[in-house]
Amino acid sequence: MTMTYTLTTPLYYVNDKPHLGSTYTTIACDALARFQRLEGNRVTFITGVDEHGQKIQRTAEAQQLSPQKHCDLITKSYQDLWNRWGISNDRFIRTTAPRHKTLVDEFFRRVEASGDIRIGHQTGWYCVGCEEYKEEPTDAISPSCPIHQKPLEWRDEQNLFFRLSRFQTEIEDLIAQTDFISPASRRHEIQNFVSQGLKDFSISRVNVSWGLPVPDHQGHTFYVWFDALLGYLSALLDDGGPVELDRLNQSGWPASIHVIGKDILRFHAVYWPAMLLSAGLPVPKRVFGHGFLTREGQKMGKSLGNVLDPNDLLDKCGVDALRWYLLRDFQFGDDGDFQQQRFTDLVNNDLANTIGNLLNRTSSMARKWFNESIPSKISSPQEKHLLAVKAEDTVSIVRNGMASLEFKQSSEAILKLAIEANVYLNEKAPWSLMKKPGNEQEVANDLYAVLEACRLVGILLNPLLPDLSERMLKQLSIEIDPIDWSKDLCWGGLISGDPLPPPSPVMEKLELSDPL
Ligand code: MSP
Repeated sequence: MTMTYTLTTPLYYVNDKPHLGSTYTTIACDALARFQRLEGNRVTFITGVDEHGQKIQRTAEAQQLSPQKHCDLITKSYQDLWNRWGISNDRFIRTTAPRHKTLVDEFFRRVEASGDIRIGHQTGWYCVGCEEYKEEPTDAISPSCPIHQKPLEWRDEQNLFFRLSRFQTEIEDLIAQTDFISPASRRHEIQNFVSQGLKDFSISRVNVSWGLPVPDHQGHTFYVWFDALLGYLSALLDDGGPVELDRLNQSGWPASIHVIGKDILRFHAVYWPAMLLSAGLPVPKRVFGHGFLTREGQKMGKSLGNVLDPNDLLDKCGVDALRWYLLRDFQFGDDGDFQQQRFTDLVNNDLANTIGNLLNRTSSMARKWFNESIPSKISSPQEKHLLAVKAEDTVSIVRNGMASLEFKQSSEAILKLAIEANVYLNEKAPWSLMKKPGNEQEVANDLYAVLEACRLVGILLNPLLPDLSERMLKQLSIEIDPIDWSKDLCWGGLISGDPLPPPSPVMEKLELSDPL
């Protein structure tokens, strides 16, 4: 059954150019979006940038640029990066887009009409890096943000507040549903936070000029998070039609999933659903908070000088290598440590040796002995081929795994199929069989089965490594556009007699002598 599937990355702050962290989230979402399309669903994959707020205002000032000029430059670097990485997003939302302002105004009026806005006094310690008030800092004299290691700033001002406290029961019920927040550990963290009692939060600022003005409240601009979360809705309505909240239900709302880092879970799993409920709109179906990447055991940061630049990585290693490492080695949900040696080892062993060589040597043998084409098999009507049974298992593990964002398990299952095909080939040793007369048909059957396993590996890799997948399928003379997992994953898709092109390696080995 065709489903509508809307998924989002966070809308990234444009205070600096993209780094490996934002690339990680975006690659994972891209794999998920591609998987959902292969399953025949109507996908809207949203990403974009969060361009307002004091953090951006100050960064622009420090560079003596107007905030808009600064945003234009950094936003372009995000768009260029996602193009270079082949990210398949359907929408890219900028929160400085004029359409977005129209939506924010309409949304605010709804929330105000529900009686969920009040004037209040806000005092507290604020971190501009997080764009967030911090609760009870441990050092009350000169407190600093544990994430940004920068002093917190004292604020004392009149703000508009959103009455979050009114939504205590609804939010408790929502997060009690086991599939709303995942992984489970993060659900518990949020349940703990909510059980302490929800407090109203301020949604306007009086000292930030770089923000959207609050209608009928002169001098107030919207708090950047109130504005940014609404970007998801603006992105969905960016389909050529008018910006009207009433159109959301035909445009792919509610989102099937928001994929975010664990740092911004509260905003997505508590504040955001309450805002939507107040506006009379459905809440997202799922929020997934993934873990953080470190590098060789250390937090990545400018001060440590150990930031991995995704453009640089792309130049030196290529798309497939990095996607494979991030999706195959890190449990999505847990923290992960980027280690150059392991990165190189996995790419070379898994992709160049296990998968690449398997295809290469099998295709060479088939070409040599069977007229440069896919050999003709004779299959037994009673018995399924051993590799066909293994492939069937793999297909079901991968389909279930990808649907639950288990990229690691899915990648490992695909790799295991390639390992099993290698073992099969080595045990059957067609190079010895072919030396004796009368074994031709057996060798043809064996090579067909291994090539068929390669075809399935190629198709299963498609959402994870679209480029490598395409090279593999080309090597097997397969042109399916678009691939459809409901049809193309059945055993026996290769057509005997189809020509096999001269093989060339589908994956180059990584040779990184210097630190990245
Ligand atoms: N602008 C807000 C999000 C608003 S969404 C309506 C924001 N932006 S951000 O640029 O700081 O991006 C945060 C996201 O980047 C994290 O949630 C996570 O997805 C990703 N990462 C940033 N650093 C990361 C790591 N070191 N490791 C993994 N992902 C991290 O917050």
